[in-house]
Amino acid sequence: MGERKPRGAEAEDPTYSVTARRLHWWTVVALAIQVPLGLFMVRYGAATNFAEPTGKLYDSHKLVGLAILTLLLARLAYRLAHGAPAAEPTVELWQKTASHITHWAIYALLIIVPMLGWLAISYYGPFAPFGIKLPTLAGQDDAKAREVFHWHRLAAYALVLFIGMHVGAALFHYAIRRDGVLQRMWVSAGRFRSR
Ligand code: HEM
Ligand code: HEM
Repeated sequence: MGERKPRGAEAEDPTYSVTARRLHWWTVVALAIQVPLGLFMVRYGAATNFAEPTGKLYDSHKLVGLAILTLLLARLAYRLAHGAPAAEPTVELWQKTASHITHWAIYALLIIVPMLGWLAISYYGPFAPFGIKLPTLAGQDDAKAREVFHWHRLAAYALVLFIGMHVGAALFHYAIRRDGVLQRMWVSAGRFRSR
């Protein structure tokens, strides 16, 4: 799916480009903040009857979430324009299929999860994290807000599940199968393709 056929000087290069790797690891860092923040703020708010800093935690979660959506749209555009290096040569067909399904599910959920959060918060009324007025996607409707938050939560859990499978697969390739898959996306991959 969207795999670029190697050609010319790139035919030998098995690594993702510097840009693709940067976008990958920035997403990892942002999600490593966003998911624990989401889980913590909800429970802290419930335990303290929304005492401060709950409001600030919620506002941070909303802004980080919109930043992740923006980053993901840039990443997806880059991915569709530049493709990915051809699969690691020893990887079997079932592994290729499983990785494509997981990667594209992650891309889809990284759009669906923040869009559901944004839609749900819009149903609650004006959207102004830290006083910054941002566009709302719908008119006020508290019942719909609750329903869409339910889907936001479920989609976020599904995202975490796919990421868990993805990281498990990366470690499987590195520690058990001992092939070159992890190196393709590693922060300082041996070869530096500039695009
Ligand atoms: C990739 C981006 C995002 C991820 C991974 C994410 C993840 C999460 C998680 C894990 C929770 C806690 C669920 C629970 O256990 O109760 C949560 C709750 C929440 N999220 Fe997000 N979120 C994202 C983006 C957004 C955005 C863009 C907004 C709003 C603009 C938003 C608004 C909220 C709100 C208000 C809650 C609390 C819901 C409640 O009280 O039930 N999130 N999110
Ligand atoms: C928030 C966590 C993560 C997300 C959302 C994520 C997402 C993705 C996506 C969407 C791809 C597909 C790239 C493409 O072809 O367009 C990818 C590739 C890759 N990721 Fe992650 N990733 C995460 C964490 C990790 C971690 C922690 C590792 C290493 C332990 C890792 C290792 C890899 C590797 C090796 C590839 C390349 C796979 C291949 O060669 O086909 N990822 N990741």
